[in-house]
Amino acid sequence: MTAFSLAHLSDPHLPLPPPRLGELGSKRVLGALSWLRRRRVVHRREVLAALVADLRAQAPDHVALTGDLCNISLPAEFEQAAAWLEALGRPTDITVVPGNHDAYVAVDAAVGLDRWHAYMAGDDGRGFPALRVRGAIALIGVNTAAPMGWTSAGGLVGAAQTEAAADLLGRTGAEGLCRVVLIHHPPVDAGPRRKRLIDAEPFARALERAGVELVLHGHTHGACLARLDTTAGPAPVIGVPSASARPVRHAEAAAWNLYRIAREGRRWRIDVTTRALQGVGFADQAAFALAA
Ligand SMILES: [Fe+2]
Ligand SMILES: [Fe+2]
Repeated sequence: MTAFSLAHLSDPHLPLPPPRLGELGSKRVLGALSWLRRRRVVHRREVLAALVADLRAQAPDHVALTGDLCNISLPAEFEQAAAWLEALGRPTDITVVPGNHDAYVAVDAAVGLDRWHAYMAGDDGRGFPALRVRGAIALIGVNTAAPMGWTSAGGLVGAAQTEAAADLLGRTGAEGLCRVVLIHHPPVDAGPRRKRLIDAEPFARALERAGVELVLHGHTHGACLARLDTTAGPAPVIGVPSASARPVRHAEAAAWNLYRIAREGRRWRIDVTTRALQGVGFADQAAFALAA
């Protein structure tokens, strides 16, 4: 059986278009200042372009993108990101879940997240949790993006989405598929209170009960690896650095992970290669095998 190859990147934080004054009468003013002071030096269009070129050269079967395409959720940012996604590939080949910067403040869906609907919807056209089946892989997109207070970068799954995601995991597990959950905020090792997934506990417990083979997340802007002990066995929980980051001002250099997933007897063999920014291009940084 040939392996299914899945690319994972996250947190591109595309360059902030100049906001209009009227758009800054909210929490957005803090985000715009943060962009001017720090983020624009870290998140660079040329780094993201180099990552995309490297990703294309590896020709993965599918791409997972776990949120934070925007910075302060301006309509112009959603439009810019929609154009960037269209250039990246077809909606059937790319699965997106939003991040907290894609719900920085409440935005009318028509000029906000609906712009990316084709990249986020399940195979049935419905919203989150969104199930897409590609070969023997079940991709389950979970939305944690919800407007929060001025100083919060937190997220929320919600009881209804947790229950629906557990149902999808149960169903696809019974079908013998390799279940991959895509989520912006890490559901384990959730980090500082200000940045964490508010209901990480109940969501992680639901994953453990329902079973999952792999959880991919963003938000941390750093490589991380944790584990869930599920009824189906241990499941790795893996985060990547920002796809556009230069290694300056304590930022971790941009990287993306390439997963090769194949059935091995009764288990799934998952091989991971990390491609990281080295100089102006991307090269292998690490390679390891996971057994789910
Ligand atoms: Fe981010
Ligand atoms: Fe984030």
